[in-house]
Amino acid sequence: MQITVLGGSPKGDDSVTLQYVRYMQKTFPDHDYNIFHVARQIRKLERDDKVLQDIVDKIALSDAVIWCFPLYYCLVCSQYKRFIELIFERKKGEAFRNKYAVSLSTSVHFFDHTAHNYIHGICDDLEMKYLGGYSAEMYDLVRSRERARFVQFAGNFLKFVERQVVRGKAGSGGEAISARRVQRICL
Ligand SMILES: Cc1cc2nc3c(=O)[nH]c(=O)nc-3n(C[C@H](O)[C@H](O)[C@H](O)COP(=O)(O)O)c2cc1C
Repeated sequence: MQITVLGGSPKGDDSVTLQYVRYMQKTFPDHDYNIFHVARQIRKLERDDKVLQDIVDKIALSDAVIWCFPLYYCLVCSQYKRFIELIFERKKGEAFRNKYAVSLSTSVHFFDHTAHNYIHGICDDLEMKYLGGYSAEMYDLVRSRERARFVQFAGNFLKFVERQVVRGKAGSGGEAISARRVQRICL
């Protein structure tokens, strides 16, 4: 499957949160992960619409999107918010419609819920199929129990999307699943 990762840390490749995606890539290598550091690149995305359009085109071809972000001051960082604004301002929301989505954060667990609720709301506005969120503490990846929990979440997410994509292609009603059932499967 094609998974697009929207990186929401101004640190780009050095982001702690991104290391969770890297771990997911290692654990589930049979998928293509297209990673975009949209928060880090925000000035370029504002200036050059072609760079933004390339990301949007990749999303249009994806099976699912991972909103991957750290908590900064009880929310996502301003650069990530600006990226979301650009999607609406430049009328690029269509690419997101009907895509499966999860949110993934790292933090010190202070007001994570506000950021996940915000991203959930954005997914609803974009008519995405939001499957739930994973809120990691920034050092969880070095704890075996937390790593296992994360792998379970990521595995359920990938398995679930894969099943829907296969069903959708076979035309047997993959679209019709209720949001409540989706959340139960994923979380
Ligand atoms: C300026 C600043 C503000 C932060 N605000 C919060 C916060 O409101 N809630 C929280 O739980 N963690 C907060 N953190 C901790 C970060 O979310 C955490 O270090 C995260 O793992 C950084 O991820 P990144 O390396 O992907 O940017 C803050 C850290 C910094 C430096």
